[in-house]
Amino acid sequence: MTASATLIHEYECGITAKIQFSDVTDVVRSYSQTIDLRRARQHMDTSADAFGRAVMDWARGGTDPEVYERDDSYVDVGAGPDLFLADFPDWPSSERKAMRHVRGRVIDVGCGAGRVALHLQQRGVDVVGLDASPLAIRASRRRGVKQAWCAPVETLTGTIGSFHTIVLFGNNFGMFGSPARIREVLTAWSTQMAPEARILAQSSNPYAGGAPALDRSYYRQNKERGLMPGQCRLRVRYHGLATPWFPWLFVSRNEMRLLVKGTGWHLSRVLGETPRDAYVGVLERD
Ligand SMILES: C[S@@+](CC[C@H](N)C(=O)[O-])C[C@H]1O[C@@H](n2cnc3c(N)ncnc32)[C@H](O)[C@@H]1O
Repeated sequence: MTASATLIHEYECGITAKIQFSDVTDVVRSYSQTIDLRRARQHMDTSADAFGRAVMDWARGGTDPEVYERDDSYVDVGAGPDLFLADFPDWPSSERKAMRHVRGRVIDVGCGAGRVALHLQQRGVDVVGLDASPLAIRASRRRGVKQAWCAPVETLTGTIGSFHTIVLFGNNFGMFGSPARIREVLTAWSTQMAPEARILAQSSNPYAGGAPALDRSYYRQNKERGLMPGQCRLRVRYHGLATPWFPWLFVSRNEMRLLVKGTGWHLSRVLGETPRDAYVGVLERD
C-alpha cells in the first residue's frame, strides 16, 4: 500500500525536521537516517563532497536520500535518486517542456549525476555536463556522460561563450546564493554569449511550500533582516558527511523576472503548472 505523509519532529536538541514521504518504507529509512545524522554530528566530516558521495552511491544502486540542513538546524530530506537519477519521462513537467527550448551547444551547469546531459546526448545534442563536485563528475562519467567537466562554473569565464544554451536544473538558478551575485554572473554571461543564447533556469517558489528547507518562519525572518525571502544558508548531509555551508536563493516567477532585468537577459516565458512545482524560466538575450 502506498501513502504519503509529512512528519514534523522536534528533537531533544532543538533540531526540527519536516520530512515528506511517499510510502511507509521511506518513512522508516529516511527517519532513521536523519536520527543517525544527528547522533553523528560531533564526528561529522564537514568539508566533504557529501552530495557527490550520495550521487556516486545512487549511481551504484543506493537509495538513501541526501539531507539539507539550514543554518538554524532545520533539516529537510532531499529528493534523492528518484529525481537526480530520473529518466526523462519521470522528470518534473516543467523540465520536460524546457527541453523543447534547447538550442545549439549546451552546458548543463551543476549537472549532478548527469541526467540532463545524458538525455540530450541521446538526442544527439553536443552537451557538456559541468559540476564542481569531483564525485558527481565521476558518477556522470560512469553513467555514460561523454563530456563531463569538473570545475566551478565561475572558472569558465571565456569558455561559456562557446555555448548556446545553459541549463540550470535542480533549482540551480539559486546556486549563486544572493541577488547581487546572480546579477553579476548573468551580466558577465550576457557579454560573452551569442545573441541567440538562452538560459533554462529552474527555481522553486519560496512562498508555495515547494522549496527544500524553506518555510514561512524562515522567509519572514529573511524579510525582517532585509534579505530576499528565499535566501538561505545550507549544507548537504549524507551518511557521516557534510558539505561546507553554502548560500542558496529560491525565487518566485515574478522575482526572477525582476532580478534578471538590466543584466542583458529577460524572462521570455515560464514553464510550470502549479505554484508549488519547480518551474523553469526561459531567459533570452535582450
Ligand atoms: C541540486 S544539485 C542539481 C543536480 C542536477 N542539476 C539535477 O537537476 O539533477 C546541484 C549541483 O550543483 C553543483 N554545484 C553547485 N555549485 C556549483 C558551481 N558553482 N559550479 C558548478 N557546480 C556547482 C553541486 O555540486 C550539485 O551537484
